[in-house]
Amino acid sequence: MSEILPDATAEFARAIGPEPDGVIEEMDAQADAEGFPTVGPEVGGWLQLLARMVDARRVFEFGSGFGYSAYWFARALPDDGEIVLTEVDEDELDQAREYLRRGGFDDLASYELGDAIETVAEYEGPFDAVLIDNEKHRYREAFEAVRPKVAEGGVVIADNAVTAGPIDFEALSALVRGEDPGEVDDHTAGVADYLGAVGDDPAFESALIPLGEGIAVSLRVD
Ligand SMILES: C[S@@+](CC[C@H](N)C(=O)[O-])C[C@H]1O[C@@H](n2cnc3c(N)ncnc32)[C@H](O)[C@@H]1O
Repeated sequence: MSEILPDATAEFARAIGPEPDGVIEEMDAQADAEGFPTVGPEVGGWLQLLARMVDARRVFEFGSGFGYSAYWFARALPDDGEIVLTEVDEDELDQAREYLRRGGFDDLASYELGDAIETVAEYEGPFDAVLIDNEKHRYREAFEAVRPKVAEGGVVIADNAVTAGPIDFEALSALVRGEDPGEVDDHTAGVADYLGAVGDDPAFESALIPLGEGIAVSLRVD
């Protein structure tokens, strides 16, 4: 990662971004100990800020793990807000419930065990903020499932827009620039396919925040 985001820049971003609380610090320690791929504090601060910038009341997450990204979002929601956490792993979802309860966010949160792309079909929109952080080869499917439910002025954020364990950055960069990188794995192809789809969608304007593993931020403008 260091060639994409130098450690010094990450540290600097953490110093500037919103302060984590004790629960977030505990979650960071758990992620470090387990090698669990949360979005990390630099991106967490941006999730909180983006939710505030779009005045988010309702948030939907594709892939919540033990609740790290949801916790940062929840800090920006009003008392009558809502965040839907989805997760295929029951143990992770139970941990998310406990962390959000400790943060005082239990009244805001709904916990959905199962495939997020099936879950989103059961919810009415509009959502003001959406996080796509499920299987990389299904990012586009997630986007298409939630697209009609994204509020105008709402934001869709996709994690791993630059990197993740299996993503080949050189190939991803070539695909995004319309070049042929040769053979590409499913994860890299999935992220490139998503970035192409949201980038070509006239209802959205997108930009990259190269922190953490990179987030693509797409604002619904129409
Ligand atoms: C990279 S982790 C990130 C979790 C969280 N967003 C965070 O920042 O900590 C992705 C999580 O998504 C879950 N996941 C993957 N595909 C999913 C799907 N289709 N539906 C629900 N959860 C999914 C995985 O089990 C994993 O816990």
